[in-house]
Amino acid sequence: MFEKLKKHWGVNGFNLTLILITFACGGSLCGYAARKLLTLINIDKGFIWLLIYLLTVTILWPFAVLMVSIAFGQFNFFKGYLKKIKKRMSGQKSTLHSVAIFASGAGSNAEKIIQQMEIAAKAGKGSFKVDLIVCNKPTAGVLSIAANHQIDTLLIEKEQFLNGDGYATELTARGIEFIVLAGFLWKIPVTLIKAYPNNIINIHPALLPKYGGKGMYGDKVHQAVIAAGEKESGITIHYVDELYDHGNIIFQAKCRVDEKDSPSTLAQKIHQLEHQHYPEVIDNLLQMRKSR
Ligand code: GAR
Repeated sequence: MFEKLKKHWGVNGFNLTLILITFACGGSLCGYAARKLLTLINIDKGFIWLLIYLLTVTILWPFAVLMVSIAFGQFNFFKGYLKKIKKRMSGQKSTLHSVAIFASGAGSNAEKIIQQMEIAAKAGKGSFKVDLIVCNKPTAGVLSIAANHQIDTLLIEKEQFLNGDGYATELTARGIEFIVLAGFLWKIPVTLIKAYPNNIINIHPALLPKYGGKGMYGDKVHQAVIAAGEKESGITIHYVDELYDHGNIIFQAKCRVDEKDSPSTLAQKIHQLEHQHYPEVIDNLLQMRKSR
């Protein structure tokens, strides 16, 4: 159940604990405040009292959790959470966040994310739209995927990316709000991270903090996992910061490593996990966010 909540809310274990504590304290606080208020109007405890109590609790609850959330450093989460409830209750359609996917290779993850977006759009649901595929390799398979789905592409050049502004000006001018790395092999420059604070996420094909860092990508990761005799591996979805494979972890899922596994059979298991979880984690994260 906790794993499901972590994935649903796009938070790590530590933040989940703080969120659950906030729910509990916020609930108690608003129950206490409602009872205190009801002592001011002299009504006997009975059906009417209960009705007014429930009404008061419902009105006070958002204020109580928001207040408590400040103390636990969870204000942004609860602001997004309450916004989501308000939208659901008013039947209002959510604003679609504009997403760019950065990829350097085959693009199987990019394709799954695009498919999820298309299915959600048909159902009138969903939280994001993939508006751009950013790629550093003219022969990468992800470019054909973009063409098949009529998505714009941007082929980037190393010098401008690493020593210029990281294409931040171009991305913001196109209205991109959120960046998803899906097998993108260049380090993200600080200028781009600063232009998109907490709005760039990555997927890594191992259980970070192990088997991450410079040069650890694709099969190299699986070779290292097998060589170390690990019994399990998995995927990590995390925010991107200035260091390789280092930012706050949002979600992890595990799989077994069998004795007969080779880097390619392990890669298949990992890809399966990635395809199963990455699109959903992105959707859940963006459902909670306010569109800029
Ligand atoms: C994925 O397995 C992803 O985790 C990995 O590259 C693969 C891309 O596959 N990323 C890294 O290794 C980053 N350090 P795809 O092109 O089929 O989506």
